[in-house]
Amino acid sequence: MRNLMVTGGAGFIGSNFVRYMLKKYADYRIVVYDKLTYAGNLDNLKDVAEDFGGRYAFVKGDICDAETVRAAVQAHAVDTIVNFAAATHVDRSLMEPDEFIRTDVQGTYVLLETAKAFGLERYHQISTDEVYGEVLDGRSKETDPLHTRSPYSASKAGGDLMCIAYYTSFDVPVTITRGSNNIGPYQYPEKVVPLFITNAIDDKPLPLYGDGSQMRDYQHVIDHCEGIDVVLHKGVPGQAYNLGTGAETRNIDMTHAILDLLGKPRTLIQPVRDRPGHDRRYALDVSKIRALGWEPGHTFKEAIALTVRWYVDNEWWWRKIKSGEHYQEYYRQQYAGREVK
Ligand code: NAD
Ligand code: TYD
Repeated sequence: MRNLMVTGGAGFIGSNFVRYMLKKYADYRIVVYDKLTYAGNLDNLKDVAEDFGGRYAFVKGDICDAETVRAAVQAHAVDTIVNFAAATHVDRSLMEPDEFIRTDVQGTYVLLETAKAFGLERYHQISTDEVYGEVLDGRSKETDPLHTRSPYSASKAGGDLMCIAYYTSFDVPVTITRGSNNIGPYQYPEKVVPLFITNAIDDKPLPLYGDGSQMRDYQHVIDHCEGIDVVLHKGVPGQAYNLGTGAETRNIDMTHAILDLLGKPRTLIQPVRDRPGHDRRYALDVSKIRALGWEPGHTFKEAIALTVRWYVDNEWWWRKIKSGEHYQEYYRQQYAGREVK
């Protein structure tokens, strides 16, 4: 494992992973393969291109386009694919599910076919705790059935099942990580944490869905990257691994933490109509990945403090996105007239 193709590497988690791996392994080469959708952004990899130019390459392409994928694998002598490429935002999957089905299911299939055709050493799929559906009690284990409820999670589950099918039917050495909600640098400000931080910096309302009592396991993106690295090197082909802190935070408490860190008033919280089919809680049993020697490096409190600091220090990055027409149109569509008194 030396020549990695990181699909979706210009997005939030993918770009953090590329930086992490190039720093950690001096003999690895990485080609990022990314379509550069609204969420893909070469600003996320600006320092990587400068610091690791000789070991880093970028190819613009769609994972659904088999010919371009194969050409990139061949040209860069790829031995491992790590697939982050996906349509990723639950609220957008409620507006336009087709892109989710296309990229997250069909795209995964194209990459698996490529891994099979080239006899790659490993195909690693980045999945999500959302494939288990909402978990009102207890914690999801990797052997639990998948009970998806949104077009996003249903598409991601389709990708997971296709991975298992390629392992079972064709011996493609597949591993899967099912990560919880990530926070940290370069997260597109449609996701709740960067949205709330950047709105609060500008004294704008924080649109909190429903009663704010839903729970998520917010983990620092670097802990997620470390976990993926551990599974790539120590994971068993054919297996899925949950990846999160194993502790949940209510959205209202996450919101208070952000406001307190920024010294902003709680009156900025604006209750809005709930998300349809809103999953109340995700909760992971992470004992399987812990048994490989991984453990989370940050508590929620530490992760949110680091994350708030980064957005305060990097306005150049998010102001460009938030002032763009694409973002503003999405914001209007998603939030206009949604306030609840
Ligand atoms: P993101 O939306 O920030 O980035 C997605 C990247 O994929 C972008 O660079 C985009 O251009 C690229 N992409 C989208 N469609 C593509 C296509 N058809 N072909 C090539 N590239 C394409 O997403 P993220 O938050 O970094 O998530 C990355 C992965 O991690 C996803 O698979 C997601 O399901 C999973 N995940 C995310 C979280 C989270 O909290 N963000 C948690 C668990 C799992
Ligand atoms: P999100 O970041 O979209 O991640 P996911 O739904 O995939 O877990 O949302 C995290 C939580 O925050 C989720 O319970 C929905 C809630 N939320 C809000 O309250 N307001 C918002 O504007 C958004 C985007 C999310």
